[in-house]
Amino acid sequence: MIIISPSVLAADFSKLGEELKKVEQAGAEYIHLDVMDGQFVPNISFGAPVISAVRKCSSAVFDVHLMIVDPQRYIDDFVKAGADLITIHYESCDDPASVLKYIRSKGLRAAVAIKPNTDVSVVYPLLDEVDMVLIMTVEPGFGGQKLIPHTIEKVRELRAYMNEKGVSLDIQVDGGITPENLPTLIEAGANVIVAGSAIFKAEDPAAVIAEMKKI
Ligand code: DX5
Ligand code: ZN
Repeated sequence: MIIISPSVLAADFSKLGEELKKVEQAGAEYIHLDVMDGQFVPNISFGAPVISAVRKCSSAVFDVHLMIVDPQRYIDDFVKAGADLITIHYESCDDPASVLKYIRSKGLRAAVAIKPNTDVSVVYPLLDEVDMVLIMTVEPGFGGQKLIPHTIEKVRELRAYMNEKGVSLDIQVDGGITPENLPTLIEAGANVIVAGSAIFKAEDPAAVIAEMKKI
């Protein structure tokens, strides 16, 4: 099953609650919340207080993508804010396995993300600790970039490895995704699709979600 996770980074922040309701009504199962600290990535977005404020506007799965240094410092805050799924970056901490275990110990789903130039094999030893792996299809930090083509091969490699090992975890892709490049990503093995600009900057976001879900 393909799951759509609209990234609110591209939404109108002055009416975030309404934006969330709109995409949820259009069939988005997840809401992707990009947390950036200006250190792990060169941009600052929003943190737990904003997530907590919009939690009451939506019953979708809150898919929180932490692009922050040493994410273990803030897991409790995001749990309290209402996250359902927390993704940490492999590159952001010394011991990703223990952070992932901690997230799961709080009853949440956990995921690990890798940047475009990080080898996909680094997540293999972590597969027992996660519900999902996020393969970044752009350099994290900004919405509205173009998908980097070589990242699609990483999705293919990871899905092949999982199939070989008999595991069927979710593979999420994030960055530069459009209805045009989505079929290739799905064919490569991705099943949780993040899209910011393609959805929120469209004239009719609901139509884009419907189009993506049909693929
Ligand atoms: C990038 C973020 C993405 C971003 C996606 O660092 O992780 O979630 O918002 O936005 P688009 O779909 O516009 O590339
Ligand atoms: Zn993201």
